[in-house]
Amino acid sequence: MRPTVLINVAVTADGKMDTFERHGAGISSEADKQRVLRLRADADAVMVGGHTLLAEDPKLTVKTVELRNERAARGLSENPIKVGVVTRADIQLHGNFMTAGPARRVIFTTTQTSPEQVNVLTELGAEVYVLGERRVNLNQALEVLYTLGVRSLMVEGGGSLNFELLRAGLVDELCMYVAPKIFGGWNTPTLAAGEGLSETAALNLKLVDFRVLDESGGLLIRYNIN
Ligand SMILES: NC(=O)c1ccc[n+]([C@@H]2O[C@H](COP(=O)([O-])OP(=O)(O)OC[C@H]3O[C@@H](n4cnc5c(N)ncnc54)[C@H](OP(=O)(O)O)[C@@H]3O)[C@@H](O)[C@H]2O)c1
Repeated sequence: MRPTVLINVAVTADGKMDTFERHGAGISSEADKQRVLRLRADADAVMVGGHTLLAEDPKLTVKTVELRNERAARGLSENPIKVGVVTRADIQLHGNFMTAGPARRVIFTTTQTSPEQVNVLTELGAEVYVLGERRVNLNQALEVLYTLGVRSLMVEGGGSLNFELLRAGLVDELCMYVAPKIFGGWNTPTLAAGEGLSETAALNLKLVDFRVLDESGGLLIRYNIN
């Protein structure tokens, strides 16, 4: 059994999630940021990939008192569970992912993380699961989340994690904000990176909804998958 999985991304009109500089470029409009906060507040857990986690050290918390109170009224914890998928968990021990909260922190990693580092993270309150040697086994990771009570998982990138989840058939919905901008670049991250799929293996999406989200002309598009 696995949770329902929603990938949420903000991309440019040329499908990029960041600029070639990879500093975590701002793509979302104000209206989109509010929408993402709502999605996060509705999720049982929020997941990010290793590069996003190590480079950007996101907080992944619910930012407004109103939304936190709403969660409390529904009998939920203040913040969703924060989940990191990272080959070598060299996470900043006192950074945002580990400290912003209160929130349960779950880290899925591989045997490339030393047992010492696993102990350090565990002592700091993270729940660490070693699931694989080269890459984290995502099927198992989602099963673990289900056993932890997670029924709805929101994935907030990046492109490699998105691709591997999509390729494994583990995604139910793709929600994308498309900003009226172009970043370009040969190696600029797109919403689904990785090895790519051949034409015959391409994933087909089913359009659920689309609308103009803000005055800049940013679009919100929702697809179902499978
Ligand atoms: N605009 C948006 O909505 C948005 C959201 C989030 C991130 N981003 C951008 O996305 C970029 C980062 O994306 P990214 O593709 O470089 O990295 P990523 O998806 O954040 O992290 C992927 C890394 O996680 C590790 N990993 C371990 N097991 C894995 C598995 N089974 N499947 C996939 N990854 C696994 C791998 O590390 P190893 O390579 O060490 O094995 C892999 O390279 C940044 O530029 C960030 O700003 C944009």
